[in-house]
Amino acid sequence: MGDIKNESLKATAVQSTLSTQWLGRSYQYFADVGSTNDLLKEALAQEGEQRLAAGTVFLADHQNQGRGRLNRRWLAPAGSSLLLSALFRPDWPPEQAQWLTMLASLAAAEAVETVTNLIVSVKWPNDLVVRQKGGWHKFCGLLLEGNMGENGRLQSAVLGVGVNVNIPPAQMPEAVTPATSLLAVTGRPISRLALLADFLQRLETWYEAANNGHSPQPAWNRRLVTLGKRVQVSRSSGDWQVTGMVLGTDEWGRLQVQDESGKLHAIAAGDMTLQ
Ligand code: BTN
Repeated sequence: MGDIKNESLKATAVQSTLSTQWLGRSYQYFADVGSTNDLLKEALAQEGEQRLAAGTVFLADHQNQGRGRLNRRWLAPAGSSLLLSALFRPDWPPEQAQWLTMLASLAAAEAVETVTNLIVSVKWPNDLVVRQKGGWHKFCGLLLEGNMGENGRLQSAVLGVGVNVNIPPAQMPEAVTPATSLLAVTGRPISRLALLADFLQRLETWYEAANNGHSPQPAWNRRLVTLGKRVQVSRSSGDWQVTGMVLGTDEWGRLQVQDESGKLHAIAAGDMTLQ
């Protein structure tokens, strides 16, 4: 076996490992960029008649402007992680956009379970977590940025995925949710190439199923870490918050929380903490 930590994610290595039909078939590797989401969005904004292929993937070994949700930073030492953005052209109604985050987190959870044997859960709305030292630790985040067409449908979407793969415990970035890496949990280096190939294959399969009307929501709900738990959900602007019990998510990925008075809230976006 080669040196897993120094494995290349350049186009030649990835293309010869991929088993997808269209996802990642157009692929660009960058050693160092600002943010793969920003780069792919710029490429999309500048495309002419030669349109960017659906399924285009930009991947970087390092980002110096990596972004998370709510304008948070996404930090990872060079060569330690999977940092990628993929382009979709769904033509879905806007309320279905959250399906992309849901199906991508399912694909990532399944790929991580296959490659590492860990058990992976979902933390609404866009995190993957594992149990470590009695608590939930985040190792993966998703950032979906969509464009609506003139017909009011989701014309294109850039899906950013960051997976902490081989970050040594001592180099774990500070984060709002306690962070970990697959190396830190399993105690061994994990092949980013194997994980990437498995993830893209599963993402393609989940996406095609969704495109044919198959909802990712039941499978996503089963992985929800807060199901039946008391949580507090707030908006970063701080203008509202809801405390109550999580009943699950609805078809469109909105968190269903029942407050003390018995009132049901369907929350599309926010920050959630376990009580
Ligand atoms: C979050 O947890 O808030 C989402 C994190 C998303 C990080 C990925 S890394 C690749 C892509 N490029 C970015 O700047 N962000 C996403």
